Amino acid sequence: MEDKDKPGARVLEHKRIVVGVTGGIAAYKTADLVRRLRADEADIKVIMTRSAQAFLGPLTLQALSGNPVYTELLSKGSDAGMQHIELARWCDLILVTPASANFMAKLAHGLADDLLTTVCLASTRPILVAPAMNREMWLAAATQENKQILEQRGVRFLGPAAGDQACGEVGPGRLIDTDDLFAEITAALAPGVLRGLEVLVTAGPTREYIDPVRYLSNRSSGKMGYAIAQAAAEAGASVTLVSGPVALAPPRGAEPVWVSSAEEMYREVMSRAHHCDVLVAAAAVADYHCGVPALRKLKRGGASLTLTLLPTPDIVKAVTALARRPFTVAFAAETENLVANAQNKLEDKAVDMIAANDVAANGVGFDHDRNEIEVLWRGGSIHLAKGSKQTLARRLIRIIAERYRAKKDTA
Ligand code: C5P
Repeated sequence: MEDKDKPGARVLEHKRIVVGVTGGIAAYKTADLVRRLRADEADIKVIMTRSAQAFLGPLTLQALSGNPVYTELLSKGSDAGMQHIELARWCDLILVTPASANFMAKLAHGLADDLLTTVCLASTRPILVAPAMNREMWLAAATQENKQILEQRGVRFLGPAAGDQACGEVGPGRLIDTDDLFAEITAALAPGVLRGLEVLVTAGPTREYIDPVRYLSNRSSGKMGYAIAQAAAEAGASVTLVSGPVALAPPRGAEPVWVSSAEEMYREVMSRAHHCDVLVAAAAVADYHCGVPALRKLKRGGASLTLTLLPTPDIVKAVTALARRPFTVAFAAETENLVANAQNKLEDKAVDMIAANDVAANGVGFDHDRNEIEVLWRGGSIHLAKGSKQTLARRLIRIIAERYRAKKDTA
């Protein structure tokens, strides 16, 4: 079988990729990558930063990409300084390889002082970043924080790998292999597993006000729900994210709807649930509210204060009771008997799938960047081993897509 006849071999055909090259010894590896992308008929436009040009000549990438290499933010051409907007809109994907610590810092903080950072800032397309740098630079707190900021905004990191470094040291910071880079780009451009579907995600905590300044809430950071919204958008879904108050920026490609209380979240979800295909309820919804909050701040007094709490509406249960219900996935945050409690919740809430996590375990769950999940449905389960919330969200989305189709096929 010829390469071109293999399933998936034509994924790159006519896909438009901006390849950004920043300063680093690994810049020379971009030449082979661009050659391979072109061989699969991708359209490539290369942007090189000034320091990238110290490692590799633009002419090499011009010859291999078949297009002029862009190097200046403000060129003297006839585009009236609009090159960055044109490139930002032209592409289906931006890949930055090798990405330096300096580039990551600029992107994390919204600096736009050269063509590459400006195009990244001006584009709504997926951004893949393949870092390459000395291990101390990679492990530096500033670089790690910048990575976290970028990941939360939907930028995908490819690597780095660990091993021998150009500076003679050994550790994390090597550019990943060209084979792996190529596979990741192809996967990112392949038709998404949720393409054409409407996905509703709830995320974050709710706030139940007692008086104008005090509320009942919980420790949910919203990170898991935001990662799921992002993974669903990457998988081609049209995503609405109904979010309680969190300190996160909405992920690229998801339409945010801001709410505060459980009652508001209920209203926003119910007005959309009947026309969505999948609901992932990752929000930590308060189970009780205070009825009508006091109009004025409650005064401190000597006597004890009794609050009467009323149950909030169970959003997931209300959705699964709809005549035309979406494929519904609930979360179960448990501190004991994880699987048994999750099984009960699967039946009690009549959901299609439960993602259960142990919030008493160390370093995972509430407000952490990592998680470990037990996914259960009627007739099966999968353990998702500890990983970043972004990685787990992508795996969960793949399982949801499979179960969604299995349910459709048997309906
Ligand atoms: O019953 P419990 O709160 O443990 O169930 C958690 C699941 O139910 C989560 O998916 C959460 O988003 C959802 N939930 C809800 N409405 C509530 C309480 C929880 O949708 N009032």
